[in-house]
Amino acid sequence: MCGIVGYIGKDNAKKVVIDGLAKLEYRGYDSAGIALLDRGNLEIEKIAETEDKKKSKILQLDEMVGDKYKDAKVAIGHTRWATHGAPSVLNAHPHISNDGKVAVVHNGIVENYAELREKLLEKYNIHCKSETDTEVIAQLLSVFCAGGMNPAEAMLEATSMMKGAYAIAAIYEGDETEIVGYRKDAPMIVCHTDEGSFIASDMTAVLKYTKDVYFLEDDEMVICRADSMDIFDRNMNKVQKKAFHVDWSIEAAEKGGYDHFMLKEIHDQPTVLGDTLSRRLTSDGSIKLDGIKLSLEDLNNIDKIYIVACGTAYHAGLIGKHLIEKWAKIPVEVDVASEFRYRDPLVDDRTLFVAVTQSGETLDTLMALREAKSKGARVLSIVNVVGSSIARESDDVFYTWAGPEIAVASTKGYTTQLMCLYLIALHMGLLKGTITDEYAKGIIGELKAVPEKVERLLEKERDIAELAKEIYKKELIFYIGRGLDASVALEGSLKLKEISYINSFAIAAGELKHGTIALMDKDTIVFALATQDELAEKTLSNIVEVAARGAYVVAITKEKNEFFKKESDRVLFIPECFDEVSPLLSIIQLQLIAYFVAKEKGENIDMPRNLAKSVTVE
Ligand code: G6P
Repeated sequence: MCGIVGYIGKDNAKKVVIDGLAKLEYRGYDSAGIALLDRGNLEIEKIAETEDKKKSKILQLDEMVGDKYKDAKVAIGHTRWATHGAPSVLNAHPHISNDGKVAVVHNGIVENYAELREKLLEKYNIHCKSETDTEVIAQLLSVFCAGGMNPAEAMLEATSMMKGAYAIAAIYEGDETEIVGYRKDAPMIVCHTDEGSFIASDMTAVLKYTKDVYFLEDDEMVICRADSMDIFDRNMNKVQKKAFHVDWSIEAAEKGGYDHFMLKEIHDQPTVLGDTLSRRLTSDGSIKLDGIKLSLEDLNNIDKIYIVACGTAYHAGLIGKHLIEKWAKIPVEVDVASEFRYRDPLVDDRTLFVAVTQSGETLDTLMALREAKSKGARVLSIVNVVGSSIARESDDVFYTWAGPEIAVASTKGYTTQLMCLYLIALHMGLLKGTITDEYAKGIIGELKAVPEKVERLLEKERDIAELAKEIYKKELIFYIGRGLDASVALEGSLKLKEISYINSFAIAAGELKHGTIALMDKDTIVFALATQDELAEKTLSNIVEVAARGAYVVAITKEKNEFFKKESDRVLFIPECFDEVSPLLSIIQLQLIAYFVAKEKGENIDMPRNLAKSVTVE
């Protein structure tokens, strides 16, 4: 989704902002732009459609601007993920007011923009030029300033008229002293260093300068100056905040020699899974959960758990349901956040709401959390980004410690979410006495062995690359499985869809015969997951059924299940493990399949079309 960067200070503002935008490319965007104050003059450069589709638009924007404005010390920039109006130079940000006095970048949606446009026209005879919702902000700010308000007052006035979600940064012609920022329901971080003050949508844009950042809360405004930075509430009272220290290294957000971030992040998994686990184990091997204060008494007061998330995180939640119900014997419902928030869910103070989210900023998940909280639920979140909105608004936060995830298709984000869910489910089971210490130790032993088993799978990635060459031209690929495998199938299918654009579908293997099997023929590929001992033979029967209709079957099963070779065209083995932990291994094979198929097709793996890493609008 849209990314914002703003800088005011002693360095070359154009360079700082363009570098920052390059770091935000991963969020997903289709056009970009920058506004600078050059000797007080407001200058704007934007880029949308480009000849060279393979080359980064930010790089092309940088080349387009060239050596111009190198003395500018104030700039705001933007990567736009189109919502209102097609990707075009006209619709790209920054937007400038008709009098040329105010430039604005914005992330979010101004829901009542049509009404505000009418007001601008009727009252001030101002016609908006673009199709965007954002332009009204620039026009309103300029109208209020022309009426005598200062930039901060104008921002408060404009935002008092706006409905929706917005993170905004604005600069003014002739005023090289400040950038004014505002946040409501859209992420914004700010920081101040010896080099100056920065505004950004997330911390990856500023990691080069500092690891201490402030998160704006809803309805807070920031005034950034070269030598200071102040945060205010809507009454213009200064807000004192604690900085969040982020221990991500700059290298962690770089490709490190891999062709793509996605491949690098797949290969990060042995390390990050080891970290996520070991930080929560004491020297005697028992579980010690940081960030979660749930006591036995709290658990006894919970009748039901809702796990709510979007996309990949939702798929992690499905595995979490199996684990919590099995080990802690508490009923769990899993829901996608965009559905949960509008269906008046049965939530009260005896509900535990668990949000799972890599970014901690997904708007639907955040709004679902607020809905649950307003009904009295306790909120526990499993989050990767430290200090993100969802982390800050939760009663208990369990960090996944995956490090920055840059590729749009989540890999290490997902597996570390699973690792957290294993630990939380075990913790709940132990507290409630529904599992024994011995049983938990057995599972922990298995979890400890996961990083090394993932390494073993990654060592064989060439085999998957070969398989990808055989299947990348196919147009329909199914993923089937039973039990935990059915949930992993959903994630495997999503990975493929996201980056290879092949039509793919995941279904519980037992459900095939109720309709979907009608689609099977000699052109279909079926990935059949069969890692659950008790269900393996049943899945084998489903393999036989689809093979009989001509489908090409790739089975994924444990090393001991050699007999799958007879009924399948290919078998991908995972190391022996307890059934419960197999998702952490089988998904590695499916991540690699998606990656190598997309690579064979020559797709833009890290930034697939139409997708955004962090979805901060509805
Ligand atoms: C987007 C991303 C997915 C992610 C989903 C939820 O769709 O492309 O990779 O799973 O949002 O994001 P979250 O940050 O809440 O986990």
